[in-house]
Amino acid sequence: MTKSTLDETVGYRGLREWLEHSERFGELLKIDGAHWDTEMGAITHMMTEKSRGQAPAILFDNIPGYPAGFRTLYGQFSSIKRVALTLGLPLEHARKVDIVKAYHERIRTLKPLPPKIVETGPVLENVITGDDCDVLMFPVPRHHEADKARFIGTADGVITLDPDEGWYNVGAYRSQVYDGKTIGCQITEGKHGRIHRDKYFERGESMKVVILCGQDPLLFMLSASPLPDGISEIDFMGGLRGEPVECVRGPFTGFPIPADCEIAIEGEMVPGQVLPEGPFGEWMGYYSDDSVPRPYVNVKTILHRNNPILCCAPQHKPVDETGLLKGIAGAAEVWRALDACGIPDVLGVWNHEAGPATRFTVVQIIQRYPGHSRNALHIAANCQGGAYAGKWTVVVDEDIDAGDLDQVLWAMSTRFDPMTDIDLIQKAWASKRDPLWLPGNFNNRILVDACIPYDMKLKKTFPTVVDVSAELRAKIKAKWTNLQFPGF
Ligand SMILES: Cc1cc2nc3c(=O)[nH]c(=O)nc-3n(C[C@H](O)[C@H](O)[C@H](O)COP(=O)(O)O)c2cc1C
Repeated sequence: MTKSTLDETVGYRGLREWLEHSERFGELLKIDGAHWDTEMGAITHMMTEKSRGQAPAILFDNIPGYPAGFRTLYGQFSSIKRVALTLGLPLEHARKVDIVKAYHERIRTLKPLPPKIVETGPVLENVITGDDCDVLMFPVPRHHEADKARFIGTADGVITLDPDEGWYNVGAYRSQVYDGKTIGCQITEGKHGRIHRDKYFERGESMKVVILCGQDPLLFMLSASPLPDGISEIDFMGGLRGEPVECVRGPFTGFPIPADCEIAIEGEMVPGQVLPEGPFGEWMGYYSDDSVPRPYVNVKTILHRNNPILCCAPQHKPVDETGLLKGIAGAAEVWRALDACGIPDVLGVWNHEAGPATRFTVVQIIQRYPGHSRNALHIAANCQGGAYAGKWTVVVDEDIDAGDLDQVLWAMSTRFDPMTDIDLIQKAWASKRDPLWLPGNFNNRILVDACIPYDMKLKKTFPTVVDVSAELRAKIKAKWTNLQFPGF
């Protein structure tokens, strides 16, 4: 394990080293004896929902009916410090947007690195094939009381191979358990794994998949992030680390599987084979998708480490443990698109935790020309990283912290005119997880320009903000060192 202090960047490799760091920060809670049937899910939900980015990761052990050591991990990303640890960034950040900025800087010049194939690794400590496969050998949870089934895949990474281009995608797609050898894989329209699957099925071919259900948190974070088409999350992870990810070849699929991962399930999806999937407590906070016939995975091989850790991430009404993940990794992808389209002086992007994923995205700019704010709005709302199932996109000036909802609401309340500062987008990329999805699976969304009108900014006719100057703040702090000002 590499050296670490709280104000330093920490290097770690693999989930187990990540857990050691989290424990040292005081951010790992170990719980014994919780049942797989709703108890682990409820504990995590109740620990996270009002935690404001302070909840611990939770490692459950001694789960009734399972051998000691067969553990589950919840809440990987419910604190900014653990997101920073995962991304290899400094652990402390004054504002939430600063961590997006730091990550955005890192990925700007990143060169993906293909994996290094190795002969063996911990994931091959146990190799189970054919009739011996039983995914219920792991303490697979039912997260919420109204979930119909147990889900082995939530904080997972589903590896698929593009049949035309030959690149491997890894996406976090949920996986319901039907029986020990049959599991679901719900991939939404437009997601990379779905595009891969559609290509195979259109040709009448089966699609091989690997479902990682316990892996390096960085790979889970990237699997849940909207990376551009054609970029493998495994290569991206290698690029971020500056060293290739060591992978073994899956015995059934031949796909690269991270050698240190906890659990990898290989199988295939066959065109025409469907089973009712769901209902499952969804990321928008509702049971909005009910039960729908969907393709499933025939399990062929199970690989796992000794004393495996099954990673889980239940979704629910805000705030859930993936709010920060989407706020940070998803926002960096929106920022990348703004850069790619040449939008100058972007200072911050934040996907607010209570507006799941990109439902409430705020972009902070220094206005440089008339129409700059509208440019930023339309790109943020419609780039690949921002378009899926969005609802509100808001642009604010440089003095408004994009990650501070109080400041954003103040700008929306004082710098915005409902007649001229709203644009609407119709027939946008939607999700049936949205309770208000429209026929044809579209949605409508709203763009809010909460910047000072540019001509008033230029002419300096917009009223002066009531504030304390930086100079007076510094003087007061120096004079009254005993006073603790919140936020400083
Ligand atoms: C915990 C969690 C569960 C998710 N479940 C699903 C899912 O079941 N189906 C889906 O299409 N996307 C799901 N997502 C969102 C995708 O992981 C996300 O859109 C990602 O960008 C998909 O990868 P892709 O862009 O390579 O397709 C989930 C995300 C998280 C964090």
